[in-house]
Amino acid sequence: MKITSAEFVMSNSEVAKCPKESLPEYAFIGRSNVGKSSLINMLVDRKSLAKTSGRPGKTQLINHFKINKNWFLVDLPGYGYARVSKKDKKTFQKYITAYFEKRKQLVCAFVLVDIRHEPQPIDLEFMEWLGTHGVPFAIIFTKADKLKPKAIQRHVTDYLQVLLDTVWEEAPTYFVTSSTNRTGKEDLLSFINDINLQ
Ligand code: GTP
Ligand code: MG
Repeated sequence: MKITSAEFVMSNSEVAKCPKESLPEYAFIGRSNVGKSSLINMLVDRKSLAKTSGRPGKTQLINHFKINKNWFLVDLPGYGYARVSKKDKKTFQKYITAYFEKRKQLVCAFVLVDIRHEPQPIDLEFMEWLGTHGVPFAIIFTKADKLKPKAIQRHVTDYLQVLLDTVWEEAPTYFVTSSTNRTGKEDLLSFINDINLQ
Protein backbone atom coordinates (compact mmCIF):
# COMPACT_ATOMS: atom_id res chain seq x y z
CA MET A 1 0.00 0.00 0.00
CA LYS A 2 1.27 3.45 -0.84
CA ILE A 3 0.71 6.20 1.72
CA THR A 4 -0.44 9.28 -0.14
CA SER A 5 -1.52 11.38 2.83
CA ALA A 6 -1.04 11.37 6.58
CA GLU A 7 -2.55 14.07 8.75
CA PHE A 8 -2.78 14.68 12.46
CA VAL A 9 -6.44 14.92 13.45
CA MET A 10 -6.63 15.28 17.23
CA SER A 11 -5.24 14.36 20.64
CA ASN A 12 -7.36 13.68 23.68
CA SER A 13 -7.76 11.52 26.72
CA GLU A 14 -11.40 10.64 26.27
CA VAL A 15 -12.54 7.90 24.03
CA ALA A 16 -15.90 9.64 23.71
CA LYS A 17 -14.17 12.60 22.05
CA CYS A 18 -12.20 10.56 19.52
CA PRO A 19 -13.16 11.05 15.84
CA LYS A 20 -16.74 10.07 15.15
CA GLU A 21 -16.10 8.67 11.69
CA SER A 22 -16.40 4.93 11.44
CA LEU A 23 -13.15 4.44 9.55
CA PRO A 24 -11.03 1.42 10.43
CA GLU A 25 -8.30 2.17 12.94
CA TYR A 26 -5.10 0.55 14.16
CA ALA A 27 -3.58 1.44 17.51
CA PHE A 28 0.01 1.20 18.70
CA ILE A 29 0.50 0.26 22.33
CA GLY A 30 3.39 -1.02 24.42
CA ARG A 31 5.88 0.00 27.06
CA SER A 32 7.18 3.55 27.13
CA ASN A 33 10.12 4.06 24.79
CA VAL A 34 9.53 0.87 22.82
CA GLY A 35 9.25 2.88 19.60
CA LYS A 36 5.51 3.35 18.93
CA SER A 37 5.69 6.93 17.68
CA SER A 38 8.87 6.26 15.67
CA LEU A 39 7.19 3.34 13.96
CA ILE A 40 4.22 5.48 12.95
CA ASN A 41 6.59 8.03 11.41
CA MET A 42 8.44 5.29 9.59
CA LEU A 43 5.22 3.85 8.19
CA VAL A 44 4.01 7.17 6.85
CA ASP A 45 7.43 8.42 5.75
CA ARG A 46 7.37 11.52 7.93
CA LYS A 47 10.11 12.51 10.37
CA SER A 48 7.98 13.89 13.15
CA LEU A 49 4.30 13.48 12.48
CA ALA A 50 4.14 11.62 15.81
CA LYS A 51 6.33 13.13 18.54
CA THR A 52 9.21 10.92 19.67
CA SER A 53 11.83 11.21 22.39
CA GLY A 54 14.76 9.33 23.87
CA ARG A 55 13.08 9.83 27.25
CA PRO A 56 10.17 7.55 28.07
CA GLY A 57 6.74 9.07 28.61
CA LYS A 58 6.70 11.34 25.54
CA THR A 59 3.27 10.42 24.19
CA GLN A 60 0.64 11.32 26.78
CA LEU A 61 -2.65 11.25 24.91
CA ILE A 62 -4.64 9.31 22.34
CA ASN A 63 -3.44 10.69 18.98
CA HIS A 64 -5.37 10.10 15.79
CA PHE A 65 -3.66 10.31 12.40
CA LYS A 66 -5.77 9.97 9.29
CA ILE A 67 -4.08 8.00 6.53
CA ASN A 68 -4.98 8.15 2.85
CA LYS A 69 -8.18 9.89 3.97
CA ASN A 70 -9.78 6.56 4.82
CA TRP A 71 -8.24 4.92 7.88
CA PHE A 72 -6.59 5.90 11.18
CA LEU A 73 -3.34 5.14 12.89
CA VAL A 74 -3.53 5.79 16.63
CA ASP A 75 -0.49 6.59 18.74
CA LEU A 76 -1.00 5.87 22.43
CA PRO A 77 1.02 6.61 25.55
CA GLY A 78 3.29 3.85 26.78
CA TYR A 79 2.70 1.80 29.87
CA GLY A 80 5.12 0.60 32.52
CA TYR A 81 7.04 3.81 32.95
CA ALA A 82 8.32 3.70 36.52
CA ARG A 83 8.69 7.48 36.97
CA VAL A 84 5.03 8.24 36.40
CA SER A 85 3.16 8.95 39.65
CA LYS A 86 0.59 6.47 40.94
CA LYS A 87 -2.21 8.92 40.24
CA ASP A 88 -1.08 9.45 36.64
CA LYS A 89 -0.77 5.70 36.15
CA LYS A 90 -4.36 5.25 37.27
CA THR A 91 -5.67 8.01 34.99
CA PHE A 92 -3.72 6.58 32.13
CA GLN A 93 -4.97 3.06 32.78
CA LYS A 94 -8.50 4.34 32.87
CA TYR A 95 -8.53 6.04 29.51
CA ILE A 96 -6.44 3.45 27.73
CA THR A 97 -8.64 0.61 28.93
CA ALA A 98 -11.70 2.70 28.00
CA TYR A 99 -10.22 3.19 24.54
CA PHE A 100 -9.76 -0.54 23.99
CA GLU A 101 -13.09 -1.46 25.52
CA LYS A 102 -15.20 1.13 23.77
CA ARG A 103 -13.63 2.04 20.48
CA LYS A 104 -15.73 0.12 17.98
CA GLN A 105 -13.66 1.33 15.02
CA LEU A 106 -10.54 -0.40 16.35
CA VAL A 107 -9.67 -3.19 13.95
CA CYS A 108 -6.38 -4.34 15.39
CA ALA A 109 -4.08 -3.35 18.23
CA PHE A 110 -0.36 -3.62 17.62
CA VAL A 111 1.45 -4.53 20.81
CA LEU A 112 5.04 -3.39 20.46
CA VAL A 113 7.83 -5.17 22.30
CA ASP A 114 11.56 -4.48 22.15
CA ILE A 115 13.08 -7.44 20.33
CA ARG A 116 16.05 -7.51 22.72
CA HIS A 117 13.98 -8.10 25.83
CA GLU A 118 12.63 -11.26 27.39
CA PRO A 119 8.84 -11.32 27.66
CA GLN A 120 7.88 -8.82 30.38
CA PRO A 121 4.98 -9.58 32.72
CA ILE A 122 3.35 -6.23 31.92
CA ASP A 123 3.23 -7.05 28.18
CA LEU A 124 2.02 -10.60 28.75
CA GLU A 125 -0.70 -9.33 31.09
CA PHE A 126 -1.74 -6.68 28.62
CA MET A 127 -2.02 -9.20 25.77
CA GLU A 128 -4.06 -11.46 28.02
CA TRP A 129 -6.32 -8.54 28.86
CA LEU A 130 -6.81 -7.82 25.14
CA GLY A 131 -7.62 -11.49 24.60
CA THR A 132 -10.22 -11.62 27.35
CA HIS A 133 -11.80 -8.42 26.01
CA GLY A 134 -11.95 -9.78 22.48
CA VAL A 135 -9.59 -7.17 21.02
CA PRO A 136 -7.67 -8.56 18.02
CA PHE A 137 -3.97 -7.85 18.25
CA ALA A 138 -0.65 -8.55 16.57
CA ILE A 139 2.83 -8.25 18.04
CA ILE A 140 5.44 -5.94 16.59
CA PHE A 141 9.03 -6.60 17.59
CA THR A 142 10.84 -3.25 17.45
CA LYS A 143 14.46 -2.09 17.23
CA ALA A 144 15.56 -5.12 15.18
CA ASP A 145 18.61 -3.09 14.11
CA LYS A 146 19.99 -3.79 17.58
CA LEU A 147 20.39 -7.54 16.91
CA LYS A 148 22.07 -9.70 14.29
CA PRO A 149 19.74 -11.73 12.02
CA LYS A 150 20.33 -15.02 13.84
CA ALA A 151 19.63 -13.45 17.21
CA ILE A 152 16.45 -11.88 15.81
CA GLN A 153 15.14 -15.29 14.84
CA ARG A 154 16.08 -16.79 18.18
CA HIS A 155 14.49 -13.99 20.19
CA VAL A 156 11.27 -14.18 18.19
CA THR A 157 11.02 -17.96 18.53
CA ASP A 158 11.70 -17.83 22.27
CA TYR A 159 9.17 -15.04 22.76
CA LEU A 160 6.41 -16.87 20.92
CA GLN A 161 7.21 -20.05 22.82
CA VAL A 162 6.58 -18.24 26.11
CA LEU A 163 3.16 -17.18 24.81
CA LEU A 164 2.36 -20.76 23.80
CA ASP A 165 3.54 -22.02 27.20
CA THR A 166 1.20 -19.65 29.02
CA VAL A 167 -2.32 -18.83 27.91
CA TRP A 168 -2.17 -18.82 24.13
CA GLU A 169 -3.11 -21.80 22.00
CA GLU A 170 -1.77 -20.22 18.84
CA ALA A 171 1.00 -17.72 18.35
CA PRO A 172 -0.34 -14.32 17.31
CA THR A 173 0.57 -12.68 14.01
CA TYR A 174 3.84 -10.85 14.42
CA PHE A 175 6.12 -8.42 12.59
CA VAL A 176 9.79 -7.59 12.98
CA THR A 177 10.61 -3.93 12.44
CA SER A 178 13.30 -1.32 12.74
CA SER A 179 12.40 2.33 12.40
CA THR A 180 16.10 3.12 12.22
CA ASN A 181 16.75 0.80 9.28
CA ARG A 182 13.23 1.24 7.92
CA THR A 183 12.52 -2.48 7.84
CA GLY A 184 9.21 -4.27 8.25
CA LYS A 185 7.23 -1.45 6.70
CA GLU A 186 5.87 -3.28 3.64
CA ASP A 187 4.72 -6.33 5.62
CA LEU A 188 2.88 -4.17 8.10
CA LEU A 189 1.24 -1.97 5.48
CA SER A 190 0.10 -4.93 3.42
CA PHE A 191 -1.38 -6.55 6.55
CA ILE A 192 -3.37 -3.35 7.17
CA ASN A 193 -4.33 -3.04 3.50
CA ASP A 194 -5.64 -6.62 3.38
CA ILE A 195 -7.88 -5.95 6.39
CA ASN A 196 -9.09 -2.61 4.99
CA LEU A 197 -10.10 -4.32 1.76
CA GLN A 198 -12.18 -7.01 3.51
P1 GTP B 1 6.47 6.88 24.60
O1 GTP B 1 5.67 7.82 23.75
O2 GTP B 1 7.29 7.58 25.60
O3 GTP B 1 5.64 5.78 25.18
O4 GTP B 1 7.60 6.17 23.65
P2 GTP B 1 7.43 5.50 22.21
O5 GTP B 1 7.12 4.06 22.36
O6 GTP B 1 6.53 6.29 21.35
O7 GTP B 1 8.93 5.59 21.65
P3 GTP B 1 9.57 6.62 20.62
O8 GTP B 1 9.11 6.34 19.24
O9 GTP B 1 9.42 8.00 21.15
O10 GTP B 1 11.11 6.17 20.67
C1 GTP B 1 11.81 6.05 21.88
C2 GTP B 1 13.31 6.00 21.60
O11 GTP B 1 13.64 4.81 20.89
C3 GTP B 1 13.82 7.15 20.72
O12 GTP B 1 15.09 7.54 21.19
C4 GTP B 1 13.91 6.53 19.34
O13 GTP B 1 14.88 7.15 18.53
C5 GTP B 1 14.32 5.11 19.67
N1 GTP B 1 13.87 4.16 18.65
C6 GTP B 1 12.62 4.02 18.16
N2 GTP B 1 12.56 3.08 17.22
C7 GTP B 1 13.82 2.59 17.09
C8 GTP B 1 14.43 1.59 16.27
O14 GTP B 1 13.79 0.92 15.43
N3 GTP B 1 15.75 1.34 16.46
C9 GTP B 1 16.50 2.03 17.35
N4 GTP B 1 17.80 1.71 17.47
N5 GTP B 1 15.98 3.00 18.14
C10 GTP B 1 14.66 3.28 18.01
MG1 MG C 1 5.27 7.85 21.80
